[in-house]
Amino acid sequence: MNVTVRGKSRLYRTVTFDAPCNRVRLIEQRLLPQAFKIVAARTFRETATAIRDMIVRGAGAIGATAAYGLAQGARTFQGNDRRKFSRHIETVYSTLAGARPTAVDPVNAMNAVRQAMARGKSVEEQQAIALAAAEEFANADVSHCAGIGQHGAKLIRNGMNVLTHCNAGWLAFVDIGSATAPLYAAHAAGKKFHVFCDETRPRSQGATLTAWELAQQGIAHQIIADNAAGHLMQRGEVDLVIVGSDRTLGRTGEVANKIGTYTKAVLAKRHGIPFYVAIPLSTIDWQLRHGRNIPIEERHESEVLGAWGVVQTRRAKGGARNGKRAYVRVANPTSGARNPGFDVTPAELITGIITPAGIFKPTQLWDRRHELGFIP
Ligand code: MRU
Repeated sequence: MNVTVRGKSRLYRTVTFDAPCNRVRLIEQRLLPQAFKIVAARTFRETATAIRDMIVRGAGAIGATAAYGLAQGARTFQGNDRRKFSRHIETVYSTLAGARPTAVDPVNAMNAVRQAMARGKSVEEQQAIALAAAEEFANADVSHCAGIGQHGAKLIRNGMNVLTHCNAGWLAFVDIGSATAPLYAAHAAGKKFHVFCDETRPRSQGATLTAWELAQQGIAHQIIADNAAGHLMQRGEVDLVIVGSDRTLGRTGEVANKIGTYTKAVLAKRHGIPFYVAIPLSTIDWQLRHGRNIPIEERHESEVLGAWGVVQTRRAKGGARNGKRAYVRVANPTSGARNPGFDVTPAELITGIITPAGIFKPTQLWDRRHELGFIP
């Protein structure tokens, strides 16, 4: 998407690959919205750390980052020994796959890269294929999100108030986003609507990232505290909910997404408000048979006990401000916390799943598996 930084507008992707330097280049999302900075991961281990520490986050973005990380790792191998090379690839794969467990995109992305690599006859050929396949994954992510936008825009009418949770925007993908894709497509078509961004504690991706994205695109929006949605729904101030997903079970239609999504789905059902989930095909898990088997990431308690922000430290040349990340303890000093990062929303609470191939009932995914990228 176009980003305007210090008065200049430029097109960015969240993740790109610098082939001559073998580096993965990422937007440092922890600094947003106060600072817009691109950082480079120099090794596959640094790339895995960037995923784990959430320099890059969001299902599709970490999928593409993992795909590039696999190619990056493959390209550092020296020699022609294919057995040693495949042991090396195993290490790279498991390091990247272990960085964040709930989203299935990194695993799906790396499986696609590995499958493509199998066509190569030499180490050198496989290294070249790995990078081409990672680029292909990243480009497919963009076109899937564009498809979601085309289908999902039909749900948005003039005057609507749309609620979204966390950040399933372009920052969470390579470009465009999943839950935001219908918003961007409807906005481009001239529709006028308003978005409520759930703040999304503890990391506040809604307040920092989604709000920043919508502001950049000129879409009317307000941030609400996570606890405010029920009240607004009860007063008729929410017409539609669109969220993203980190893992959607193709067999059952259950959706794992940022903690708090399930609560919003229950509230939407209670108030008869349509609740949609937007996903590219790489977010579908065709294997798992039950939502309770989805690994739910438990993050550090410090995220709940305090908050991160960016302190305005000094004025840079030209009046722009440089920021430094800082943590402030908010909670009682002797208390601990639980911090599950995701929850699972059952199919019966979901009105529809917006995919690049159309909008389906969650329980239709399995019947439609062949057009939705299922590989037996
Ligand atoms: O922990 P995060 O920020 O990586 O969580 C991912 C998310 O932003 C949300 O769960 C999102 O709705 C799905 S990712 C497109």
